[in-house]
Amino acid sequence: MKKVSLTGIKPTGTPHLGNYLGAIKPALELSAAYETVYFIADYHALTTVHQGSVMRDNIHKVAATWLALGLNPEEGLFYKQSDIPEIFELNWALSCFTPKGFMNRAHAYKDKVAKNQASGTDDDSDVNMGLYCYPCLMDADILMFHADVVPVGKDQKQHVEFARDIAVRFNKQYGEDILTIPEPLIQETTHIIPGLDGRKMSKSYDNIIDIFLEPKDLKKKLGKIVTNSQGIEEPKDPETCNIFKLYRLFATPEQTENLAARYRAGGMGWGHAKAELQDVLEAHLGKARDRYFDYLAHTERIDKILADGAAKARVKAKETMDKIRSVIGVA
Ligand code: ADP
Ligand code: TRP
Repeated sequence: MKKVSLTGIKPTGTPHLGNYLGAIKPALELSAAYETVYFIADYHALTTVHQGSVMRDNIHKVAATWLALGLNPEEGLFYKQSDIPEIFELNWALSCFTPKGFMNRAHAYKDKVAKNQASGTDDDSDVNMGLYCYPCLMDADILMFHADVVPVGKDQKQHVEFARDIAVRFNKQYGEDILTIPEPLIQETTHIIPGLDGRKMSKSYDNIIDIFLEPKDLKKKLGKIVTNSQGIEEPKDPETCNIFKLYRLFATPEQTENLAARYRAGGMGWGHAKAELQDVLEAHLGKARDRYFDYLAHTERIDKILADGAAKARVKAKETMDKIRSVIGVA
């Protein structure tokens, strides 16, 4: 039997090239070796997204992105968290085994408190209980489906370690075979994908390039990549250029070598380099973009895929919960 790889994706905005190369692509590649459980963590997003229409849009965009990039909903599980009520029941049960100190140490909460202290406001200003208990809900996500590995970015490692710890405590109390002890699978992207300004591409820096942009919007976006003021004729250094850093992530080694030579030779302007980048992005993502917009034009298809996925997932969730209710003595 294949091991289970599980991860949650928060619907907090439009996915960007950093998310694609750093998280989505590697997670999809795992489907060759693992049984995958990939879900939309909408109730985690509710800690910050408080407008219904925005939440709904984000869910559709994130689901369409994964489907367009090759997630096969027939293999493994693909659902949205809020459709699985058993997760929220397990969240409560696990919270009764979670030391409060774990939540005090969780980094998102700690960062928020540190910011409040720095600005002289109350420690808990703007901290809702969802943010505070966030890691516990993650434990329920992970342990419900007996995940063996959890592919996540470095920032989520602590949360997966909490899940391990809680699973060990629970099993010690009720029996070793009840919960599977998960392992974080840290996606060591060899590179941090740079954004328009050369800093790490991130929604919080407002420097992102969406994965799917229509050609004219992509052209406009690439126009914003920050370059120096060297003229066309001057020889240029590819290694320090934000355009080139993105280009090499999508181009073949020959294309990369070729463009580097043209940089060094001089006679090529930033506009040309941006057009080359647009070409490789188009070649890499153009077909997926068509699928993405097709899904978004038919959101009922997305809703159907997620509803079918939830029905499949709930069969497993019920099995887990039946066992848990029985051992804790409420059933
Ligand atoms: P953002 O910083 O835009 O809010 P998220 O924190 O939602 O992005 O990112 C989700 C996942 O995407 C991260 O765990 C990480 O693995 C990956 N990721 C995000 N930005 C980058 C980047 N610039 N380079 C590589 N990976 C990234
Ligand atoms: N907290 C994760 C993030 O911010 C999303 C998430 C929710 C998750 N539940 C999960 C990731 C379970 C892995 C496993 O990106």
